[in-house]
Amino acid sequence: MQQSKVRLSGRQADPEFFRFEERSELDYGLVLDVLHGRRLGVIFRDVIPPAARKELTERFWASPARQHREGEPSHYVGAYHWNKSADTYLREAAEVADHVQEVIDAPGSPWHTFRRGVNEALRQEGASLRVAEMDGRSASAALIRAWDKEGDFSLDPHEDEAQCKDARQAGFEIQRVLEHDICAVNMCTEHTAGGRLVIWNIRPDDATRHALGIELTGLPYTAEALADFEELRLDIREGDVYAFNGAFVHAVDANTGNRTTVSFIMGFTDAHTVVSWT
Ligand SMILES: [Fe+2]
Repeated sequence: MQQSKVRLSGRQADPEFFRFEERSELDYGLVLDVLHGRRLGVIFRDVIPPAARKELTERFWASPARQHREGEPSHYVGAYHWNKSADTYLREAAEVADHVQEVIDAPGSPWHTFRRGVNEALRQEGASLRVAEMDGRSASAALIRAWDKEGDFSLDPHEDEAQCKDARQAGFEIQRVLEHDICAVNMCTEHTAGGRLVIWNIRPDDATRHALGIELTGLPYTAEALADFEELRLDIREGDVYAFNGAFVHAVDANTGNRTTVSFIMGFTDAHTVVSWT
């Protein structure tokens, strides 16, 4: 089907919800708001110490586990669960776990700072954050990525929910996050120019995914189909950490030079448990 002819269906948020809170210091209460579906997103400006940015970025580019695929977004260390079986994902995650850890264990790493802060905030409500597991195997702690794709978008418009519906991942606890809200987290350690976060005010439903043939991938939605909806474009700069509801269609627009981020997705599986994966 011609996607540009498809009228996307799904839920749209109220205007007062559809905005990013912006702060110059980390505030984990705002992150919990995203986790609980009380706000769209939050960006913390310039909160990664310069030395940590530099060291983490250098470890990423030097990593023997760094992979590059043409047309993909594009250099990365880590594993991603998108469009594969849980078994494959967990095996890949195990294979690169030490290399991922080497990158995110850079002194002053925002991965540790942020997760410690989220965990402490969650403790106030009797919950905690951990890496997702299945049968004693762990998800990837992070995916560290750098984009170099040309075109309107360096990461095509997509949402993070559809990929959690894959029957090949049945029984993997991340699928229970669909009953709650899905929170994408990104930490920018290197940035040259461009590469804004774009997010549209539409949470597509299964009917739309089915019509587009992207029920299990959530990718891609075309710019034409998204033109009907309000969009936000958010400048991302080196040192920024941001978190947002990944059920809304989002993308990264054109960028030049390197745009390196540490990322993961997280969400509640029950009132006491938040799990993360990649
Ligand atoms: Fe995403």
